[in-house]
Amino acid sequence: MTRVAVLISGRGSNMAALIAAAQAPAYPAEIALVASNQADAAGLERAKAANITTAIVDHARFGKDREAFERAFQAILDQHRIDLVCLAGFMRLLTPWLVSRWQGRMLNIHPALLPAFKGLDTHERALAAGVKIHGASVHFVVPEMDSGPIIAQAAVPVQDDDTPERLAERVLSVEHRIYPLALALVARGEVSLVDGRCRIAGAQPMSATLVVPAIKG
Ligand code: GRF
Repeated sequence: MTRVAVLISGRGSNMAALIAAAQAPAYPAEIALVASNQADAAGLERAKAANITTAIVDHARFGKDREAFERAFQAILDQHRIDLVCLAGFMRLLTPWLVSRWQGRMLNIHPALLPAFKGLDTHERALAAGVKIHGASVHFVVPEMDSGPIIAQAAVPVQDDDTPERLAERVLSVEHRIYPLALALVARGEVSLVDGRCRIAGAQPMSATLVVPAIKG
């Protein structure tokens, strides 16, 4: 069974979605560890309530020495014999030192249709840009932030009267669907890299389209 660590810094709703999905007997991975750089991350309590082992590596202890922080994290991942890492609202930039160790084995979820809106405040920026379609992406982690081969994406419509909060909620509900899907695909070995793009074994051609705005008649 593929052993997964979920790294969080906050509320951990994506973590909870991964834990819930992994409880299904046919799911190809187990959430073996939830680790955080924030001792007060709300997600840690949710993980404990689901009987998942938790760990804290407080980045403040290491000052500016990012690599020392990452070495401490790596030691914990080794200790728990972790095969795959899922970043889920983990608010630390990782150095090439750690990222290169986990090449092809570290996933991240980003609340936008990458490569649009990398970085923070994606929903505010999507509204300000006036896009009609927004969404979420799961991708392999590379040294450059919010980049790397995309494994899965989901799109949602933007409504004229959306606030960043309402849009965030709509995006979050699809995040909770695509993260378990993407992790399962990677754990089953169904994702291969061809010319820097993810190819998914068994993926069906899709004809669904999302047109926004929807106009009657
Ligand atoms: C999510 O929107 C995720 O896409 C982003 O950070 C947020 C984390 O939320 N990377 P949660 O902690 O999973 O609820």
